[in-house]
This record gives sequence, structure tokens and C-alpha cells, in this order.
Amino acid sequence: MKPHKILIIAGARPNFMKIAPIIHAMRLSDKLEPILVHTGQHYDVLMSDTFFKELNIPQPDISLEVGSDTHARQVAKIMERFEPVCDEYQPMAILVVGDVNSTMACSIVAAKKDIRIIHVEAGIRSRDRSMPEEINRMVTDSITDILMPPSRDAVENLLTEGHKPESIFLVGNIMIDTLLDSQEMIKKSGILDQFGLVAKKYVTLTLHRPSNVDNIENFKKILAALAVIQNEIPIVFPIHPRTRKMINEFGLGDYVASLSNLILTDPLGYFDFGRLISESGFVLTDSGGIQEETTVYGIPCITLRENTERPITILEGSNELAGCDTEKIILLADEILKGNWKESRIPELWDGNTASRIIKVLESVL
Ligand code: UD1
Repeated sequence: MKPHKILIIAGARPNFMKIAPIIHAMRLSDKLEPILVHTGQHYDVLMSDTFFKELNIPQPDISLEVGSDTHARQVAKIMERFEPVCDEYQPMAILVVGDVNSTMACSIVAAKKDIRIIHVEAGIRSRDRSMPEEINRMVTDSITDILMPPSRDAVENLLTEGHKPESIFLVGNIMIDTLLDSQEMIKKSGILDQFGLVAKKYVTLTLHRPSNVDNIENFKKILAALAVIQNEIPIVFPIHPRTRKMINEFGLGDYVASLSNLILTDPLGYFDFGRLISESGFVLTDSGGIQEETTVYGIPCITLRENTERPITILEGSNELAGCDTEKIILLADEILKGNWKESRIPELWDGNTASRIIKVLESVL
């Protein structure tokens, strides 16, 4: 029996590639016993199970099966179902990653029970409170005991917010551990052949932020840019369930289908998606993590948001912001197609060794 039980929380797709290397490293520790809780915020096979299989994540010890709902109800359900889990397991700490509803909901429960909270990816801020994730980040960090930011700007944010330096541990970017570990499998993916794509001669698109897809005006502005860009270069679009739902609700299905060089597909697994972006001419996205992955691959990225909580991907990486401004998206895409894009570098500590740094910190401070 290892002395320190840690409940590791995962709920939604972007959590799975972050917990995988942490669990694998923790299993090798003499002190730390990982117990995996899946809240069920994401539940579709393509949004969840695929990642468990590909990334060799053990079956969850506890499944809360909350499913989709309004934010308040989803958070409430997670809290209600997580509280008895804390009572039963009496963990030494809980470890949360990222900024999804599950991250915040489980943190609140732990804080009320005086269980220590470890937050991996602490301190990143978009300063945009209309983003649900920004609220999740602020609330989670405000009650976290052990803050593990991915970059120096995130450390600065935490210090400015009054966190004690001794509670902050700069560990690097955990997503990049998985990205680097998975290179062999990513390179084996047959996704390019499957869609008849030629490396560098296509674009990858992802779109799911409520501000882009739940707002018909903004959604149409982005589609107008896509209509122009797809005349120049094919665009592959693995489509998120939220986005598919909104296309149907807004009656945009026929228009989207009329864009003959916009290739729609279901959400892809980690290896196929990794191959797709790593061989893209460029990437259009409103995701957080993809801004980081393109920076590591050195692939130009146009982010379809007004702001980012990951400014290092602009300052050092290959990312630029375009919001949902049709002209700006087209202009930036043109620049890339003409070969005009900035040089980028991989930020400090995005080196594949973040999980081992996390374990080292936890073994010494818990
Ligand atoms: C959530 C996270 C977001 C993250 C994204 C990645 C929050 C606030 N948002 O957003 O930060 O970038 O995950 O995917 O935590 N649905 C399915 N199957 C699923 C999951 C969802 O069909 O497995 C549909 C449901 O109709 C649901 C909608 O997608 O209502 C949105 O799902 P939800 O988990 O609320 O938010 P995401 O947009 O996925």
C-alpha cells in the first residue's frame, strides 16, 4: 500500500492527454497512489473512450456519469456525486488539470472538505470572463494549494493574484509529454491517405467555442472566411458534437455542405488528429491546446478568438489571433499561403518531462 492516495480528475476530451502521463509516472512512484475519477462530462466513444485506449489510460476507478447539461446543473451534479467519493477514499489530495467544468467542480468539493488541491496548468488567463473556462480557471486557482503553471507568464499571473511563491511550481506543459511520447504512433496514422491529402497541401480546422458556434452572426463570419480559403486549399474539419448540433439548429447544413473543399469528419482520435495537424499547411482553431501543439510542431496557427490564455504561443510560437473577423482570417491565411510567417520556437520546459517534474514536486511536498 502506498502512503499517499491522490484522486485524479478527468472529465472532458482535453483532460485525457494531460492525465495520461501523470498517471503513468505516478504508478512508478513508491509514495503516490493514483485513483482515477471520470466525471463523464464527455461520454461519447469518440470524445472519451478512444483516448483511454490510445493513451493506455487505465479504466476509471470511479465514474460519475454526469453527462451534458447547463453549466450550473452540470457543475452541481459533479459536486454532488464527487462528495461521497472523497468521503469513501479519504485522499491525501486531488489533482485537477486544465479548465473544464469538472476541474472547478471537483476543486470546490475538495476545498470544502479540507483536502489539498493540485492544479496542473494553473495560472493561465485570457482576462475574458465571458469564457466559461476563464471562470473555471480563476475559481480553481483561488482555492488550489499546489499550483503547477505551464509557463512563466502563468507564474506571473499567479504572483500578481497574491499566491505565495512557495505554492507555485513551474513544471512545464503536460500536454507536450503526450505529444512527444506518441510520435511513433502519430507517424503511423493513415489519416492523410484516408482523405487523399498531401502533406502541407491542406488545412486543419477545429471550432467549438460557444462564442463562435452558439452565435449565428459570428459563426457566419467564420464560414464566410472558410468559403474563400477552401477555394485555395482543402480544409479538413473534424467536427465537435456542439458544433454539429449548432449547424443543424441554425439551418446551416446545406451551406456547409455546398463548400466542396471543406471536408467534414467525426471527431478524430489522438494519433490521427496529431498526424493531421503535424502535416497541415496551417491550422485554424478556437481550441486552447491546439495553439500549443501547433507551436511545438512549428505549424502556423490562426486562432479564431479575440484573446488567448496562452500568449506564449504568440510571443514565442507560431500562433496569431484573428477572432471571427472574416477579412483578417483571409488575410492571415493568404500570408501563410505566400510563405510569409514568423519564425517560432518551443517554449521553456515544453520538453516531454513535465510529468516527472510533477511527481518530484509531489513526492517532496505532500
Ligand atoms: C468542453 C469544455 C471546453 C473544452 C471542450 C473540449 C467546459 C466549460 N467546456 O466544452 O473547455 O474545450 O470541452 O471538447 O468545461 N456532447 C456530446 N457528446 C459528448 C460531449 C458533449 O454530444 O461526449 C455535446 C452535447 O450536446 C453537449 C455539447 O456537446 O451539450 C457541449 O458539451 P460540453 O461538455 O457542455 O462542452 P464542450 O463544448 O464540449
